[in-house]
Amino acid sequence: MKNFVLKGNILYSKNSDKIEEYPDSYLVCEEGISRGVFRSLPEQYKNLPLKDYGEKLIIPGLVDLHIHAPQYAYRGMGMDLELMDWLQQQAFPEEAKYIDLEYAKKAYGIFAQQMKISATTRASIFATRHSEATKLLMELLEDTGLMTYVGKVNMDNDAPENLIEESADISAAHTIEWLDGIEGRFQRTKPILTPRFIPSCTKALLKKLQQIRTDYDLPVQSHLSENPGEIAFVKELFPEAAFYGDCYDRYDLFGQKPGSPLTKGTIMAHCVYSGDEEIALMKQNGVFIAHCPASNMNISSGIAPVRKYMEQGLHMGLGSDVAGGQTESMFRAMTDAIQMSKMYWRLVDDTKKPLTFDEAFYLATKGGGAFFGKVGSFEEGYELDALVLNDEHLPHPQKLTLHQRLERFAYLGGDVQGIVSKYVAGQCILKEQTA
Ligand code: GUN
Ligand code: FE
Repeated sequence: MKNFVLKGNILYSKNSDKIEEYPDSYLVCEEGISRGVFRSLPEQYKNLPLKDYGEKLIIPGLVDLHIHAPQYAYRGMGMDLELMDWLQQQAFPEEAKYIDLEYAKKAYGIFAQQMKISATTRASIFATRHSEATKLLMELLEDTGLMTYVGKVNMDNDAPENLIEESADISAAHTIEWLDGIEGRFQRTKPILTPRFIPSCTKALLKKLQQIRTDYDLPVQSHLSENPGEIAFVKELFPEAAFYGDCYDRYDLFGQKPGSPLTKGTIMAHCVYSGDEEIALMKQNGVFIAHCPASNMNISSGIAPVRKYMEQGLHMGLGSDVAGGQTESMFRAMTDAIQMSKMYWRLVDDTKKPLTFDEAFYLATKGGGAFFGKVGSFEEGYELDALVLNDEHLPHPQKLTLHQRLERFAYLGGDVQGIVSKYVAGQCILKEQTA
């Protein structure tokens, strides 16, 4: 059913300044597209089926711009390490297991189910370097009804023997085999080119990926300027590059250059230490930043200058970066982003005001949603992704505003129990449970 009306207390963003609040109002969906939010239902929609959610909150679905599916199984473990040691000791040994399809089925089955019941409606996901397990992950995600990008990871450098790809040629051949193998199979699950990060990729591999991106017109996702140890290593590997992002850009893996025939964008996770030149190139090429505050704390990366990115008008959304981040909760990512921005303001630069709740909400909805098209808002013409939230399990002695209820829901982890329904591109993928 793609034509319907949802009634309830509706909140969404038009811009980053302010969350719009519509108490006891109507959200109209036709053919999976929002026709807007109305305080009283226009005559022409009166015949559509109406679902009345009463006092519950209705908000756009949340967008996770950066998450690693194979790392879900060990989230919350090894959290006392820093990035490069954490990769070698935690991430790589776990990811090596995905050569075994039985293991992949179990672990990805859990991941897909948890994503289905989470607050996330859209996500850009790293798999591992294994094509078969990546196809399996895509099948499982397709069944959830979520809309996702999924990437088979490319890595032919600096990883253990049981995970590294033997050569650039083999990595590229497996990527092509994966892309051809999924061609036309999925409606809601799309491929994204995924060089892990510069230390994992030889220049020969980057060159091959450049060709593949052109041949298939693919979006790209990777990591950028995350951690001091990583950045020092990139400088050693790539002395000729002007800055980290330049390593990707030399191979057309960094957004879309002006006049480029490529139509799909690029997500770069982290950008904690991007300098002026890197920022200017991200802006020019329309690169999306996935800000991943929990991960930046857990693996000691640093505090990203998100206010600076907002002032400069860069594309930005939030990422859970599980398992650098310990949870897939995008409500938690919102509140972590606010807390981190406060520490940046207090400790690093007092001209960079902390994020407001309204800004963090915008980043988690419309900011990241833009990577998927017209996504992340209830404005007319947007694809309809919605969450219905019940906050009755968080009782309060007074009547709160809708804004207060939403902020409290985010800070108190309301999503653990409080997501009652979920719509993705106009399809209800999670129906209200009656307790
Ligand atoms: N850089 C390269 N690989 C990874 C990863 O798996 N997680 C994080 N946070 N950073 C990375
Ligand atoms: Fe990551």
